Amino acid sequence: MEKNIALIKGDGIGPEIIAEAIKVLDKIEEKYSHTFNYNRVLMGGEAIDAHSVPLTDEDFLKAKQSDAVLMGAVGGPKWDNLPAEIRPEKALLALRKGLGMFANLRPAYMYSELKDACPLKASVSGDGFDVMIVRELTGGLYFGKRDTFKQDGVLTAYDTLVYNENEIRRIAKVAFSTARKRRKKVTSVDKANVLDSSRLWRKVVHEVALDYPDVELNDMLVDNCAMQLVKNPNQFDVILTENMFGDILSDEASMLTGSIGMLSSASLNETSQGIYESSHGSAPDIAGKNIANPIATILSAAMMLEFSFDMKTEAEAIRSAVDTVLKSGARTKDIFSAKAGEFEVSCSEMGDLIAKNI
Ligand code: IPM
Ligand code: MG
Repeated sequence: MEKNIALIKGDGIGPEIIAEAIKVLDKIEEKYSHTFNYNRVLMGGEAIDAHSVPLTDEDFLKAKQSDAVLMGAVGGPKWDNLPAEIRPEKALLALRKGLGMFANLRPAYMYSELKDACPLKASVSGDGFDVMIVRELTGGLYFGKRDTFKQDGVLTAYDTLVYNENEIRRIAKVAFSTARKRRKKVTSVDKANVLDSSRLWRKVVHEVALDYPDVELNDMLVDNCAMQLVKNPNQFDVILTENMFGDILSDEASMLTGSIGMLSSASLNETSQGIYESSHGSAPDIAGKNIANPIATILSAAMMLEFSFDMKTEAEAIRSAVDTVLKSGARTKDIFSAKAGEFEVSCSEMGDLIAKNI
């Protein structure tokens, strides 16, 4: 098969982790006779430096016309003081919204080999856990009306959290159908004791649940969920939640897996197109040092093969190569615990090892 991939390297560690994902994809091309064409798209700080905007219309179009978008990470202190309209994050949100990527899947999976990197004690983490966070990605607070103004001489700001029933219904369907392929349990997370948007969320999710009688549904308030994740992560299969709750809970869940450097993500629309990126940021503090963990991006590339290209065997080959390499004891700095049998490797060495095991 031949596929066109819009490639966003981005800022900070972005170019380093993308280089390792490409290394692994090169191996997939070779072994399974596919052709991946990469079309460079500049986004975030790299685009601001080149074009004074975080994403040009031309580059947006390149992404829109691709079969999938693979990205590193955007943002960094250099662009932190720019007006909100041209910040790097603005481009990421515009890309997600512009391509209609409403469903963000973030698998938080603890490899048993990484038990020692998990901050929870073994009696809590058990033999490892496997949670899929399904985060709504194009609505809620991120996209509601907002403003900053002076009221009676006092600086005042507001953001609005808006969802309509259709937006809730389509993300709920993604969560239930995802759960159906897993352990058949959806925990819908909201703040229905306070927010109207959450009460509508809960109502619509329960309506959708009627079409999935084989899937168990329970509701959980977001503050309780934050606690339950560290108290007993094993109770979760699929967590379904709105945009900002999902942003926060996915960072928390990623840390439970040992490092945010392990959490991949797929953002999907109604077609097979997707944006594939790790859930972590551009980590400017470690950029250029060749010590970043490329696994989240490599696993995101595996999600791209599975969800956008229907290459399940190839995706599995990447996941099992990651497994093998972790079992061999290779660890980037963030997951290195100096236990017997472990050895520290650089970002590029980790990529080499995974590619070699395809
Ligand atoms: C993420 C990030 C983004 C988000 C930022 C960079 C806008 O934190 O993908 O989780 O909040 O969605
Ligand atoms: Mg985030």
